Amino acid sequence: MDERKGRLTKDGIRIYDPADFAGMHAAGALAASILDRIAEHVEPGQSTAALDKLITEWVEEAGATSATIGYKGYKHASCISVNHVVCHGIPGDKTLKDGDILNIDVTVIVDGWFGDTSRMYVAGKLPRKAERLIQVTHDALMKGIEAAKPGNTFGDIGAAIQTYVESNRMSVVRDFCGHGLGRVFHAPPNVLHYGRPGTAATLEEGMFFTIEPMVNLGRPETKVLADDWTAVTRDKSLSAQFEHSIGITADGADIFTLSPAGTFHPTYG
Ligand code: MF3
Ligand code: CO
Ligand code: CO
Repeated sequence: MDERKGRLTKDGIRIYDPADFAGMHAAGALAASILDRIAEHVEPGQSTAALDKLITEWVEEAGATSATIGYKGYKHASCISVNHVVCHGIPGDKTLKDGDILNIDVTVIVDGWFGDTSRMYVAGKLPRKAERLIQVTHDALMKGIEAAKPGNTFGDIGAAIQTYVESNRMSVVRDFCGHGLGRVFHAPPNVLHYGRPGTAATLEEGMFFTIEPMVNLGRPETKVLADDWTAVTRDKSLSAQFEHSIGITADGADIFTLSPAGTFHPTYG
């Protein structure tokens, strides 16, 4: 037996086996392909409940399981967060309007492995200031992934994201973070999207986690609505988010949730 199986670091972060990457790729690819398929259905007049219904069907069709249905009482296969909703938007009957921007977040379980990814969409025509927000948020995620390699720390990832976002005069949400995942949905560590270089745990080959920065055009503060899920910007400014699930390799990161269609970003792939 591989002596590394089941090993936890001193920070309580699980180190997975090289063979486990295949399971994460299968789960990640399904989640990403569902996000690819939903794109053509995002249009003005469509309700977010109708989008969630399609996602629910596609997860079932694939013989997979939704990780979010039944999770802490959540009832849907996706979170759909429109405009100033930061994350955990609940699908509902309200219909999309021209120029709305939205994050759709899907987590599936395939053979026990979790694939968690989200990306931005637009209903109709993308407003100019939303376009900039979406690009900065996407690029911030990619800067975080570039910093994800053995020997770097989680603080290096957070600092890369924060520095980039703030240099574009936008703000990073502090109230929600990425997370370890694998055979569980949420595990150590908390992956902060802000921080100082060289701080927090050191990355090692075999760690699996998400990076999922939420970026606001205005201030970073959020509040959770009375439904106990929906998080919104306190100042009502627009918010965007992208999320990948990744695994640390010998010299970098393996992205499990790459878009099979190459449409992770709504305008530039
Ligand atoms: N997919 C979300 C994440 O990125 C978690 C959603 S939990 C839910 O961690 F219950 F709100 F769906
Ligand atoms: Co996540
Ligand atoms: Co997610």
